[in-house]
Amino acid sequence: MSKLVTRNLSMTFGGLVALDGVDLDVPEGEIRGVIGPNGAGKTTLLNAITGVNQPTDGEVLLDGEVISGLKASRIAARGLARTFQTSQLFAGMTVLENVMTGLHARMGTSPLAAAFGLPSVWREEEDATEKAMSALDFVGMQQFADRDGGELSFGQQRVVEIARALVREPRVLLLDEPAVGLSMTRVSELDALLRRIREERGVTIVMIEHVIRLVMGVCDRITVLSSGRKIAEGTADEVTQNPEVIEAYLGRELDA
Ligand SMILES: Nc1ncnc2c1ncn2[C@@H]1O[C@H](COP(=O)(O)OP(=O)(O)OP(=O)(O)O)[C@@H](O)[C@H]1O
Ligand SMILES: [Mg+2]
Repeated sequence: MSKLVTRNLSMTFGGLVALDGVDLDVPEGEIRGVIGPNGAGKTTLLNAITGVNQPTDGEVLLDGEVISGLKASRIAARGLARTFQTSQLFAGMTVLENVMTGLHARMGTSPLAAAFGLPSVWREEEDATEKAMSALDFVGMQQFADRDGGELSFGQQRVVEIARALVREPRVLLLDEPAVGLSMTRVSELDALLRRIREERGVTIVMIEHVIRLVMGVCDRITVLSSGRKIAEGTADEVTQNPEVIEAYLGRELDA
């Protein structure tokens, strides 16, 4: 069954066509890779799906229901979570608090109740702490819970960011280059983590990634973007043998 669908998704910035009629159909439980050269429109695709930017044309469907046009917070509440290409943890906040910030869109307490410190706030606070600890535990970072977010290595921060996305118990997880800057050992750990997220939490994953070893190893299918258009889609074997993909992207990437 289709979990996430885009139809003719398009985005222009001034005169620049960043996304040009992209059709995507991600079945439930799939790990989908999205690859393509710099500037291909990969992050723009994620921004249009999550409502960070409203698409200029086309639509996005989650479980068959149109979500494009909704505010980003409403889309998040429907069960979509993401990580950002360049984001880092907040320094001056513990790792646990960083993960708890992922819950904000879900917190139902009224500002008034929060201001007066009503018991419902305490219950939510406790509940939030528990959820954040469990997300940290799931990604294997629970021992860092009380450390300052800024003290963690770049690779550790990337993993905590995934916990920050998971804390809301999303149905679909969108990752923007989660392996950037990771050592080979950490890439293998990420591969295993993604499989666990799918298997143990039933999450459908869409991952933008330049680390070809990870994409080819973990993704069921791969969508290739170039200049805002989808130029290919298929299994790792299919896309690596596609001459247009080699020409536009893989030739360069594999040389590197
Ligand atoms: N907010 C914006 N305003 C204007 N142009 C933008 C904006 N966001 C993206 N673009 C442009 O759209 C194109 C696609 O950018 P995008 O960030 O989606 O590429 P990408 O595939 O994620 O590349 P990378 O691999 O480098 O992250 C680029 O030409 C970029 O400069
Ligand atoms: Mg990008």
